[in-house]
Amino acid sequence: MTRPRGCVAAALGVACATALLTAAPVTAAPLRGGGPAAAAADPYFPLSGNQGYDVGHYDLDLDFTPQTHELTAAATISAKAERRLARFALDYSGPPIERIVVDGRAATYRRDDRKLTVVPAEAVAPGQGFTVEVRYRGRPEAIDDPALGLYGWINTDDGAVALNEPDGARSWYPVNDDLSDKATYTFHLTTPTGVTALANGERQGPPLVAAGRTTVTWAMARPMAAYLAMVAIGNFEVNRSLVGGIPNVTAYDPAIDGDDGFLHRTTGQAVEWGAARFGRYPFDSMGGIIDPTEAGYSLETQSRPVYDSPPDEGTIVHETAHQWFGDSVTPRSWQDIWLNEGFATYVEWLWQEEHGGPTAQQTFDGHYATPAADPFWQRETGDPGRDHIFDYDLVYVRGAMTLQALRRTIGDQDFFHLLREWGERHRYGNAQTCDLLRLAEEISHRDLGPLFQAWLYTAAKPSEEAAP
Ligand code: TRP
Ligand code: ZN
Repeated sequence: MTRPRGCVAAALGVACATALLTAAPVTAAPLRGGGPAAAAADPYFPLSGNQGYDVGHYDLDLDFTPQTHELTAAATISAKAERRLARFALDYSGPPIERIVVDGRAATYRRDDRKLTVVPAEAVAPGQGFTVEVRYRGRPEAIDDPALGLYGWINTDDGAVALNEPDGARSWYPVNDDLSDKATYTFHLTTPTGVTALANGERQGPPLVAAGRTTVTWAMARPMAAYLAMVAIGNFEVNRSLVGGIPNVTAYDPAIDGDDGFLHRTTGQAVEWGAARFGRYPFDSMGGIIDPTEAGYSLETQSRPVYDSPPDEGTIVHETAHQWFGDSVTPRSWQDIWLNEGFATYVEWLWQEEHGGPTAQQTFDGHYATPAADPFWQRETGDPGRDHIFDYDLVYVRGAMTLQALRRTIGDQDFFHLLREWGERHRYGNAQTCDLLRLAEEISHRDLGPLFQAWLYTAAKPSEEAAP
């Protein structure tokens, strides 16, 4: 489901033209095929995403054996053609394909490094819904990128975990990996009986046991970007409860020495606390999974983050904050990663402020004391570059500082109104920095272009004036 792009037209208006057009040249990215609605490729990940259709649902049937790490899979993609499709492409770099069927008829296909081009027996008519079924089998492998780390399908001692951010979904299923083409998901996970399999969302019905194998079905009924899709297979202890009527499902690998009660409790508290400040919790369940991997980071997978080790309170608050900021409201391009990480880090500061720790302003002051010559101030938070999207100082800390500077400028009442309105206006959609600027200006009746320029699009320490 692709939403229309909101801020492109607005970028021509007063608010975003001056400050932001220079920062994000719309002409830089090559345009891909398709009609007038065709979006430009992501400037940081130009090979991801495909044009000409809009995915509504992924049904992923995955049969996995932990001992051998062998996967037998059928991915059924329901999409709508946006133009006549004599052929179309998907992002895919997973195991060998056995067969592809489009609308019940065998299709031909071609693979290269990371794209799958499908040629249906008959072209799909414009506006028509169609389904693509891809059967594949083999051992999926993680992507190991020098700048982005280990991600995608990660095999573990007792199973596997999928952590897709930013473009790792293609390592285990064929996908339109475009931030704006969110879709709903169903996961049918089959493993040897005794192995536990989890995914995003809610369990559908009881496990089915046949011939020593168990199948569980999970469904994510809210639109989800591909980088947030998750499965975790292995030896897990699962805990369930209800928090304000919403299921809380946490799991941990009993081989690690962790207090799962802490993750379960703190997740519920962070969701209730967040809902009171940022608006209704966007998903139909919550939770978290502790699964030790070589990845070395936690990820805000939709409704159910994955933690690589027993998390502290700050980490749980951070990944829970992403459910509003990143998962429900998703950036339109990876350049705007600060809308994820700056917000989630700022929510950690807010949590501390309200739980007997330093105020957000004190945390801000501590970082603002960093000398102007320090590498901390190098680069632009609002355009960090592909290899720096996860840089802690640049994106996380300076992103959070941007929000504190904004709070001080517009005042608490407008600022908290903004946080809530941001989550509500763009719920389940995509938004960009330009949308935030426009909304902040609309709420505060101030010209905030200079503040955004100084904090996001300047590779230097903002002046005291921009740091009220
Ligand atoms: N998005 C994760 C978070 O902050 C972090 C993350 C994902 C990450 N991939 C990474 C951090 C790779 C460092 C390296 O919650
Ligand atoms: Zn984060």
